[in-house]
Amino acid sequence: ASITPLKTAFASYFPIGTAFTNDEMYGENANLMKKHFASVTPGNALKWDATEPTEGSFNFTSSDEAVQFAVDNGMKVRGHTLVWHNQTPNWVFYDSNSQLVTKEVLYARLKAHIDAVVGRYKGKIYAWDVANEVIDESQSDGMRRSLWYQIAGDEYIEKAFEYAHAADPDAKLFINDYNTHIPAKAQFLHDLVQRLKAKGVPIDGIGEQTHINIDYPALSQIEDSIVKFSDLGVTQEITELDMSIYTSSSQSYTSLSTTLATQQATRYAALFEIFKKYKDQISNVTFWGQDDAHSWLRTSPVTRLDWPLLFDDNLQSKSAYWSLVNAL
Ligand code: XIL
Repeated sequence: ASITPLKTAFASYFPIGTAFTNDEMYGENANLMKKHFASVTPGNALKWDATEPTEGSFNFTSSDEAVQFAVDNGMKVRGHTLVWHNQTPNWVFYDSNSQLVTKEVLYARLKAHIDAVVGRYKGKIYAWDVANEVIDESQSDGMRRSLWYQIAGDEYIEKAFEYAHAADPDAKLFINDYNTHIPAKAQFLHDLVQRLKAKGVPIDGIGEQTHINIDYPALSQIEDSIVKFSDLGVTQEITELDMSIYTSSSQSYTSLSTTLATQQATRYAALFEIFKKYKDQISNVTFWGQDDAHSWLRTSPVTRLDWPLLFDDNLQSKSAYWSLVNAL
């Protein structure tokens, strides 16, 4: 039987995307990407440590290649990410005496970075994850105590959205986070977006990373959050979907059993039933990688094999793939 492209299978619901690293722009990985995916997210190439490793000295080699690959092949691009506490060089936050900078200095650096990066890909990147992982539901105000926060309180978030909007008024601007199924976290995120909207901050959407595993969380919690966010007047995108087969960090298997492959397929199908039900709220569903061999979960949180995606190490369709296409 011929293999239905995912993007065709889901064409009446939402564009299907994948993250990729630049080694996937060649050979069979490139063919798989072009066949199945309507959008792509460079997995690392647009992060601050890649594009501006030292102040004012930009390196767009990887990001230019990645964006051009997408443009040449008619795929939309999600830009990831502008403000984050990880993969951001220390110089952003410190002065030459190793003291934290003032918020004025921080904002000048942020604006220069966003002007350069967002401006460079104006018209080529349709959506930006402007702020990534800013919520920490263990804090009384829900705000992560990152260096961004330590220097500027939560005001850096609206600055980032304003700078991004000025650099590309047509780009859709997202706040992106993980574990958005946790009710307390979802509420903080909801209320932050509500406050930003009330202030007139240009925010268009919520990105739900959706790094889940084979038995957690309950899919009803994912659905509850989609519903919770739907009164905000913003779109939602599933930005980093994958499903680890592990239920604890101490497990380590040498192969994917048929039992787990089937369990994963069933769960993926059920998850997509939810996404399809909310297709009017969800404007993209992106997997955090095509094939298991390229998954970040093979090195995080520990180095071990994992099989979280739709295609196996040999780029063959897994049960998870078939469960999605056959369920349509
Ligand atoms: C990951 C990349 O896939 C890895 O290659 C890198 O080593 C670490 O970052 N949440 C995010 C993504 O927002 O940027 C992360 O990507 C995965 C978790």
